[in-house]
Amino acid sequence: MPTASKVLDRVLVLEMVRVTEAAAIAASTLTGRGDEKAADAAAVEAMRAALNELPMEGTVVIGEGERDEAPMLYIGEKVGTGNGPKIDIALDPLEGTTICAKSGPNSLAVLAIAEAGGLLNAPDVYMDKLAVGPGLPAGVIDLDRTPTQNVEAIAAAKGVKPSEIIACVLDRPRHEALIAELRAIGCGVVLIGDGDVAGVIATSDPDTTIDVYMGSGGAPEGVLACAALRCVGGQFKGRLLFRNDDERARARKWGIEDLDRQYDLKELAKGDCIFAATGVTDGSLLAGVKRKGKGKVMTTESVVMRASSGTVRWVKGEHRLDQ
Ligand code: FBP
Repeated sequence: MPTASKVLDRVLVLEMVRVTEAAAIAASTLTGRGDEKAADAAAVEAMRAALNELPMEGTVVIGEGERDEAPMLYIGEKVGTGNGPKIDIALDPLEGTTICAKSGPNSLAVLAIAEAGGLLNAPDVYMDKLAVGPGLPAGVIDLDRTPTQNVEAIAAAKGVKPSEIIACVLDRPRHEALIAELRAIGCGVVLIGDGDVAGVIATSDPDTTIDVYMGSGGAPEGVLACAALRCVGGQFKGRLLFRNDDERARARKWGIEDLDRQYDLKELAKGDCIFAATGVTDGSLLAGVKRKGKGKVMTTESVVMRASSGTVRWVKGEHRLDQ
């Protein structure tokens, strides 16, 4: 367990929830409207405004993109009042933009904070991901093994047959071979359309029945998911995947020299960290934003957790729109 950070103590844990709530509420007004960009823009604007009220010298290390491609919450943007501790922030104001636009399951507003230097400055490239929940022997998963070997190791550690293992995988053509291999050994494969932050976190919740998360998705989402797993327990392996020299150059720009490195959970999110999320649409982790009371009240469900204490708080909010 990491030592509790005095720096993070000064930024109230529950303040994090205000920030993700604001983003989720803003995005929810555009749920099911078929407009990913508008939903994302609403969430970004609301999250930025809420972050700027916090007493800290925050730096966005994982955000909406590089400065020339994102007007707000770009990597390197300073947020907060400027009076307070130096904090690194990884955020995704709307994780699952397409889900939100189509009103599907598991879109979230997500935020993780750590002391400066605590979160890997992951470039916006793909990452090969492998995750399991808590209670398994260290080293049970390894990206240098085949999916079959990983499933066999997890099954042996759980005392079950490989065919009893359930894997969660993003439903993408690039995962065809992975899905075929898993099904060939009898695994159940839960295919998700989007939203691998929730997919990775699902491995830590026995109610989801998901034993392992496998496959590639966004590297920034990988770091966010790691911040959550650091709090609730579990193991994660990640390796950046590059499609061209431009992506390799991007990684080098952020100080990554070993491009083939297999990262461990604590290398992606180290020291004490806090993770917060609010549901935008209903999902395995959280209920989505609901409009009630003749449209005058909005309800939210959020979770905020801390690595040093392992405390997980579930927060239900009622927000009156006429006050
Ligand atoms: P967005 O919110 O940016 O749309 O990301 C959704 C997501 O499904 C992530 O959860 C995942 O890491 C990534 O997209 C996968 O990328 P791709 O859609 O290119 O396979």
